[in-house]
Amino acid sequence: MVHPPGNPGRRPRHPRTGHRRLPHPDEAALVDALRADPRAWIDGLSTVAESPDGVITAHALITRCHIDDTPALALAPCATLPAHQRAGAGSAAIRACLAAARTHPEPVVIVLGHPDYYPRFGFTPASTFGIHAPFDVPDAAFLALLTHPDHPIPTGTVRYPSAFGI
Ligand SMILES: CC(C)(COP(=O)(O)OP(=O)(O)OC[C@H]1O[C@@H](n2cnc3c(N)ncnc32)[C@H](O)[C@@H]1OP(=O)(O)O)[C@@H](O)C(=O)NCCC(=O)NCCS
Repeated sequence: MVHPPGNPGRRPRHPRTGHRRLPHPDEAALVDALRADPRAWIDGLSTVAESPDGVITAHALITRCHIDDTPALALAPCATLPAHQRAGAGSAAIRACLAAARTHPEPVVIVLGHPDYYPRFGFTPASTFGIHAPFDVPDAAFLALLTHPDHPIPTGTVRYPSAFGI
């Protein structure tokens, strides 16, 4: 089960209900820092997947970043409990986040991740749009998805929320 990002009772409550329930507990501090940053956090843009017995099996967060000075969105972190990987939980959480992102005005979602995984959601190398990472990374791993393809695409270098420490 995926909790829709727009459902207030089910928004990513994992940082509040116990960090041990996160798929990757070491991400708890990052999630907390993102939630605490009003420039980065956007209510309704992050979600969790939950098994029928109530275990949070995956989470996916989207927060605000910038491309040079233009607001955009960043998909990170995404994780699935190891025992639940390859069962669709990660994809379900990511697809729910991206559906929510399409209801927001920012025209681009950026992700740094596995080149074999994210293209299934429509991501392609960000460099083809003139969007670049603020660090060295292979082109194939730094990806962008246009959520409003009819809008102008910002170009430049991505600035992540400070919580990422980049
Ligand atoms: C990457 C991750 C979030 C995927 O979540 P998941 O719930 O296992 O993925 P799903 O079940 O929705 O999708 C499974 C598909 O993704 C593919 N996949 C999973 N992990 C992958 C990886 N690291 N690289 C490439 N493909 C991967 C599987 O091969 C499978 O492909 P198929 O549908 O063609 O069989 C999860 O494996 C994870 O938490 N990994 C560790 C943390 C991490 O790497 N986070 C992402 C940072 S970029």
